[in-house]
Amino acid sequence: MCGIIGINSNKSVSASIINSLKKLEYRGYDSAGIATLHAGSINEVKSEGRVDNLEKNSVVQNMVGTIGIGHVRWATHGLPNSINAHPHSSQNVSVVHNGIIENSTLLKKFLVSKGHKFKSQTDTEVIVHLITENLKTENIINSITKTLKSLHGSFALGIIFKDQPDLIIGARRGSPLAVGYGPNENYLGSDSYALKSMTNKITYLSDGEFCVIKKDHVEFFNEDGIKINKKVLELSSEEEKYDKGDYKHFMAKEIEEQPTTLKNGIKEYLDTSNNDINIFNFPWKINEISTITLIGCGTAYHSCLMAKYWFEELTTLNVNVDIASEFRYRKNRFKKDTLYVFVSQSGETADTYAALSLCKSKEMKTCSVVNVIESSIARDSEFVLPIHCGIEIGVASTKAFLGQILILYLLALKLGFLRKDLKRELFNKKLKDLKELPDLVQQTLSIDNKIQTISKTFNDAKGSMFLGRGFSYPIALEGALKLKELSYIHAEGYPAGEMKHGPLALIEEGMPVVVLAPRDDYYKKTISNMQEVIARGAKVLLITNKSKDEIISENIWETIEVETTGADLLPFLLTVPLQKLAYYSALKKGYDIDKPRNLAKSVTVE
Ligand code: M6R
Repeated sequence: MCGIIGINSNKSVSASIINSLKKLEYRGYDSAGIATLHAGSINEVKSEGRVDNLEKNSVVQNMVGTIGIGHVRWATHGLPNSINAHPHSSQNVSVVHNGIIENSTLLKKFLVSKGHKFKSQTDTEVIVHLITENLKTENIINSITKTLKSLHGSFALGIIFKDQPDLIIGARRGSPLAVGYGPNENYLGSDSYALKSMTNKITYLSDGEFCVIKKDHVEFFNEDGIKINKKVLELSSEEEKYDKGDYKHFMAKEIEEQPTTLKNGIKEYLDTSNNDINIFNFPWKINEISTITLIGCGTAYHSCLMAKYWFEELTTLNVNVDIASEFRYRKNRFKKDTLYVFVSQSGETADTYAALSLCKSKEMKTCSVVNVIESSIARDSEFVLPIHCGIEIGVASTKAFLGQILILYLLALKLGFLRKDLKRELFNKKLKDLKELPDLVQQTLSIDNKIQTISKTFNDAKGSMFLGRGFSYPIALEGALKLKELSYIHAEGYPAGEMKHGPLALIEEGMPVVVLAPRDDYYKKTISNMQEVIARGAKVLLITNKSKDEIISENIWETIEVETTGADLLPFLLTVPLQKLAYYSALKKGYDIDKPRNLAKSVTVE
């Protein structure tokens, strides 16, 4: 998704801006641009496609200027071409923008009536002209305050001015933005990863705030233009490494890292000497909570759904699961005895963040399960459970999914135990099984050859289905999501028991169908559903776990057997072949695995 960088320095900034934009590439984008200020004029260069294209541009290579802004754009308004790429500039002002301006059509009408000429199809360009218009009568601070008040929607902005050789403005509403502090230079960035290569001293802007970045100091303002003080945070100075190593793609590396993700999570939360789960500083009394509501988007939503099955199995709590974009606009009944849990790898997903803000405005109990601990969702929730899986670059979430479901499983176990829903003996047994899980995932990873062959059939098909019941149903949804986002093959995840209520009509001769049927309480029922699709011509890939008992069905096209463990941990193992299926299918098609078309890593617009 869109990313912003701004640097105000006493040396040339273009190379540093380009390098920082490269750090934002993992977010997914379709064009890039840079503007610097030199000798009283704004120089702007933009290009379609990757930051590499921008870097190769001879104007960029010779670009001078000690103050500048850069952007990677993920198109919302207007085609992904160089005209619509950011920055957008008037004669006086240049702007980069993340987010969506919802009243841009109305504002544009007003500005056109005042004689402003527009070059692009974007909503962002209205900001440029609005500031230019306001500058006719106001000073910088007042023109920014006035402009921001006229905008509806969400934004993170970086702004430079032709007549201001020592000033970048940053402003935030809804989309994340941070300021970084360096020696004789200061920075603006939409993502602390990008800033971390330059500094570990950061200030995050809160909604409604804006800042004035000079070379030697930074000032902060509230939405009324009144000066405020903000804290400087020191992040860990170790820059996380995220090279691909010997892997072809980040996704392949991240799949293989999953045993480590689980080991880290277990090490962090399991107290092996006392057979306990450490959830330090849990801020609520256990009898204050009788309902859990889990909220997320995409893969994180599937983690929530997975957790519902575990919470219901291991506790007597009531459990609700919601898609953040639905939750935030529904007429919810907010209850004091509910713990609202927000699940997000990035911690910046706009809908999840808005759902959290809504719960906070109602003074609800909020907890987040996130990977990026400096993120907006982590910072704004009352209690945070980090997943400790390290940076995830591939747009398709893999290790973060296993990390999220591990933490949610631990939370369910701990609450079940504290509530006395789960007896000590069973609790101990489950902790023992957990310790073995990373090794079992490691063994399950060695299924590449078989999956590679199988993936060909999926690539040749018009569409596919993923079926599961109980614990396996959320995993079926996740498997289908992975296949569609990476290999652009239509894939539908469905509860196996629902097939005959409609989707069975889709099954035709040769259609590949993945059936998740581990040897759990649902096994026989799922096998019956599998027979119904086989009878109608489906080519079934059965994924089950190893067992001494033979598989009770015939005419199965292919079978994959994952390792064996307790029924509630099998979802971890079932996930692995589905991730690999999506990976190999996209690899065979030659698609951009780490940056699938139209998608972004961090979805900061609603
Ligand atoms: O950063 P988040 O976990 O909040 O992201 C939520 C979804 O956008 C994300 O899981 C998305 O569905 C992935 N691309 C799936 O692989």
